Amino acid sequence: MSGETRVLVTGAGGQLGRALLQASWPKDIRVVGKSHAEFDIACEPELEAWLATNRFDVIVNAAAYTAVDQAEVDSGRAIRANHHGPRALASACRRLGTALVHLSTDYVFDGTKDTPYVETDAVGPRCAYGRSKADGEDAVRTQLAEHVILRTAWVYSPTNKNFVKTILRLAGVRDELNIVADQLGSPTSAQDLAKAVQQVVLRIANDKASVPWGTYHCTNSGWASWFTLARAAVDAAVPFTARRPFVHPIRAVEYPTPAVRPANSRLDCSRLEAAFGIRMRPWREALTPVVREVFGSK
Ligand SMILES: NC(=O)c1ccc[n+]([C@@H]2O[C@H](COP(=O)([O-])OP(=O)(O)OC[C@H]3O[C@@H](n4cnc5c(N)ncnc54)[C@H](OP(=O)(O)O)[C@@H]3O)[C@@H](O)[C@H]2O)c1
Repeated sequence: MSGETRVLVTGAGGQLGRALLQASWPKDIRVVGKSHAEFDIACEPELEAWLATNRFDVIVNAAAYTAVDQAEVDSGRAIRANHHGPRALASACRRLGTALVHLSTDYVFDGTKDTPYVETDAVGPRCAYGRSKADGEDAVRTQLAEHVILRTAWVYSPTNKNFVKTILRLAGVRDELNIVADQLGSPTSAQDLAKAVQQVVLRIANDKASVPWGTYHCTNSGWASWFTLARAAVDAAVPFTARRPFVHPIRAVEYPTPAVRPANSRLDCSRLEAAFGIRMRPWREALTPVVREVFGSK
């Protein structure tokens, strides 16, 4: 693309959205962020009209309904944001010649595989959130050739609501925490995820003809259980709190939740590395600076 590349980030108030807007971008990339209140991706007529007059080269869809348990009783909102929204965006992108980078989730898998999931594995979501995201992926693939779907997992950041922040809060007031140890996944810092998304956007901006469009797994490297992640967060917080509550491993059956989560949702990210040269650092390395930032120390 010659000249300025215009990038729209939807869901700009979320963890990834904020990280994308805080990232430093080259001077020839103009990034515009729209929060849910400013731009509802599922409001098709408004979206079509606005995008027709505000042209973008790339849209990063960081908008989603991510309340996994709440989605079981509020599936309509999950479907609207995670299926109908991406469908409307992809269809507008096709008409306007805009590329779409869309985010999806490890929860599209059923968790029965013994090894990390690869992109060609069959999906089989076990909860309403996962089903709505799997349908959103399908809609994007059906509507638009020029898409990159990045499936990520267990996202946390210094802002918004997430597992790491919940653990840090509880660690400040409790002496013992019981955390599920038999669900495995790939914890991912929103800031690191934003850097990976940025590399994909820059590839589209600099050499669109060479982009290997399709679906990729995109997480920090290595894996953990919720228990391992909680213990690592508690350990990283010790310099700030001088507290080290005891973290007990428990089984998922001892902590029933409305949504069924996959026992294994580890994602193999080697396809992303082969296609885009993106290899994210180990999750423990990414966790420490986020914990530091939660306690207001850079
Ligand atoms: N968080 C995770 O652990 C996780 C794990 C795997 C994959 N992912 C995926 O990664 C992506 C980014 O997640 P995240 O953690 O940054 O999510 P997040 O913090 O929940 O942010 C999502 C944002 O989207 C907004 N939104 C919801 N419905 C919308 C709509 N119809 N139109 C426009 N905006 C809307 C939300 O606004 P309101 O809050 O005001 O509704 C929120 O600001 C999503 O695709 C998510 O599915 C996340």
